[in-house]
This record gives sequence, C-alpha cells and structure tokens, in this order.
Amino acid sequence: MIERTVFDRAAIAARIDALGREISEYYRNSGDLLVLGVLKGSFIFLADLVRSIDCPLRVDFLTASSYGSGTVSSGEVVLSLDPRTKLSGRDVLLVEDIVDRGGTLEKILPLLGAMGPKSLEVCVLLHKRSVVLEREPRWVGFDAPPEFLVGYGLDHAEEYRHLPFIGSLKLPEMKLPKD
Ligand code: PRP
Repeated sequence: MIERTVFDRAAIAARIDALGREISEYYRNSGDLLVLGVLKGSFIFLADLVRSIDCPLRVDFLTASSYGSGTVSSGEVVLSLDPRTKLSGRDVLLVEDIVDRGGTLEKILPLLGAMGPKSLEVCVLLHKRSVVLEREPRWVGFDAPPEFLVGYGLDHAEEYRHLPFIGSLKLPEMKLPKD
C-alpha cells in the first residue's frame, strides 16, 4: 500500500526539465553521446530525460540486477550489456533511478570505465545519501528520504513501476517468531 506521495508528477517533470538543460549544455560539443540506462528501474526516467535533452545522442541499456525480490538490496550485482554496444571513445552518460546503498554504481562504473569511454558520467533521479560514494553522480534529481520508494520505474517485487509519481510503500509489519 502506498503510504504517501513523495515526488508528484509536476515536481518530477520540472526537475527533469532542469536536468535536461544542464546535460544539454554539458554535452553541447560532444557529437557522440551515449545515454546508457540501467534496467529496469531507469526506463521511465530515461524516456523522459532524453526528451528534455536537445543535443544529438544515442540510447542503450544494460542490466545490473541485485538478487532477490526483498526490500533490502543484496551485495551481489550481475552486469549484462549488449556486446555490440561500443563505449570506446564515446561520451557515456549512465542513467540510474536510485542510489540506495550505492553498491550497484560502485560495481558498474569500474566495469564501464574499463571499456575505454572518452568520458563517463552518471545522472541519477534519486539519491538516498546513506553512503558517500567513491564517485558521486554529476547529476542528481532529488535527495530521497530513507523510505521504501516505488513508482516511476521503481518496484517492489516487480510491482508499482508504472505509477506516474514516486511514493513511499508501507511495508507489512515483521512478525517475530514466538519462542
Ligand atoms: C535497484 C535500483 C538500482 C539499485 C540501487 O535495482 O534500480 O539499480 O537497486 O541500489 P543500491 O544503490 O543499493 O545498489 P534492482 O537491482 O532492484 O533492479 P531493477 O532496476 O530491475 O529494479
């Protein structure tokens, strides 16, 4: 059950417009910008973000999934990228929906960096600021509260991704075993 709306449609749209302007300016003279979305969570954010960027770009995706469908991310990340996607010599902008404990980005970035991009930057919609990353994203949509967030691409056990806003999920109370 959704407990409250954390970021509504209008707030998200306004922030993405601003991000799009900054990103367009930053890559104005690039000529070879690859916007690389981390599936699945980034798919709606990326779709809106690229439509707010007014310089030439290409779009691709990779998957980096943590195991399980629980509410706590595990330490393991599996990365999968189309072998035809070349990063070498290109300006790569990695797009993520959320930095939670930061493990996903910390594992992906060195792997992508080793593929020889001309530059590698990150744009993340939500950042929980629960950790300080070795490399912070250049662009952050919103600092996020320490709640379980769903909607606008974010899921709980694959549900809620389609919600047009970001909400906080009320989790069922943990039942402790009786002794
Ligand atoms: C979620 C989210 C981020 C990651 C953030 O992905 O989309 O990629 O967790 O958590 P972290 O900062 O603690 O690593 P998930 O593995 O659940 O896959 P999904 O994008 O398909 O939902």
